[in-house]
Amino acid sequence: MQKITSDIFWVGASDRRIALFENLFPLTNGVSYNSYLILDEKTALLDTVDVGVTRPYIENVAGVLDGRDLDYLILHHMEPDHCANIEAITELYPNAKLVGNNKTFEFLEQFYGDHLKDRYVEVTEGSELDLGKHKLTFVCTPMVHWPEVLMSYESTEKIFFTADAFGTFGALSGNLFDDEMDFKGIYLDEARRYYSNIVGKFGRPVQSALKKAKDLSIDMIAPLHGPILRENIDLMLEKYELWSNYQPEVKGVVLAYGSMYGNTAYAVDLLANMLSERGVKDIRVYDVSKTDVSYMISDIFKYSNIVLASATYNAGLYPKMKALVDDMAALNLQNRNYSIIGNGTWMTAASKIMTETMESMRNMTQIGDTLELKSRIIPEQMKDLEKLADDIVASLK
Ligand code: FEO
Repeated sequence: MQKITSDIFWVGASDRRIALFENLFPLTNGVSYNSYLILDEKTALLDTVDVGVTRPYIENVAGVLDGRDLDYLILHHMEPDHCANIEAITELYPNAKLVGNNKTFEFLEQFYGDHLKDRYVEVTEGSELDLGKHKLTFVCTPMVHWPEVLMSYESTEKIFFTADAFGTFGALSGNLFDDEMDFKGIYLDEARRYYSNIVGKFGRPVQSALKKAKDLSIDMIAPLHGPILRENIDLMLEKYELWSNYQPEVKGVVLAYGSMYGNTAYAVDLLANMLSERGVKDIRVYDVSKTDVSYMISDIFKYSNIVLASATYNAGLYPKMKALVDDMAALNLQNRNYSIIGNGTWMTAASKIMTETMESMRNMTQIGDTLELKSRIIPEQMKDLEKLADDIVASLK
């Protein structure tokens, strides 16, 4: 636990043992579950934490309350990484009211039943909760990242509690504030991976939330995961503007290949070298069989161009490449340049499936001609690869 202002405390916890967030996304340095406790004439706890860190959380809450009762538990988000301790808190603090909207309570009852019904305090857009010196104004931000999500603005300290928005993967290391650490070096890439994979699909709802944020004077953004922002508020608002509009941050090329025996991989490495020779600085090459899809999605959100190269498999698309292109479509990716290299020995289907998937997405532009390999790239095709490199470079201008 740690003070973030004289009366507001961080009472969250970091889980460094967790391997997969949502049992899906690899974590190399865990994740934090943030919860905040306001001590005023009334006391308010903002969200709970994941079941994996119940014990430190409960001790943090009790430590900060130091014998005081809890008046309110505010539920910004009903995903279990934040709501798993509602029952533990309501048992420990039987007078605590639960603050949420109608959807919050619908989901609460789905997870835990309706035995807490008499404690509900329902809020809507603009509702204010008066705690004494501190006042929380609620902002409805559905689909950032579930339909019930609320954010709240504390007007005395100018803190915006933003639920999942502006969160990052990565445990906290004692320092809570972005200006106490190398935020860009340690957390920015993980903020992008978190955004693109968790919230990426919901660009339009994020845009609506950003519009509401523009009306607020914000000194601090306090998300449910990762560092509290003081220094990088404008930077992260700019990133969210780009990401939610599916606009690339950088003109550069992500090359992802699915290759069984190295032949498709070799063609991609040749192309990457040709791009380098033509002066391209931002190049990322990924083997879809080795790199978790979430890292490739993150870079695909960052860069302007994608090269997809894949072997044909079972008369279809190599499964790991299929997972990548399907994920791009599921996350609503738009506004990218893409190039296609297909490979097959006795049948070619990969390029057709990759192209169809890219064409199903909004404002995706194919750069260069599709290059079809039969088992390997042959010397006669080197000029085609050179031409593809020229076309990609031209598209980066
Ligand atoms: Fe951190 Fe959507 O939960």
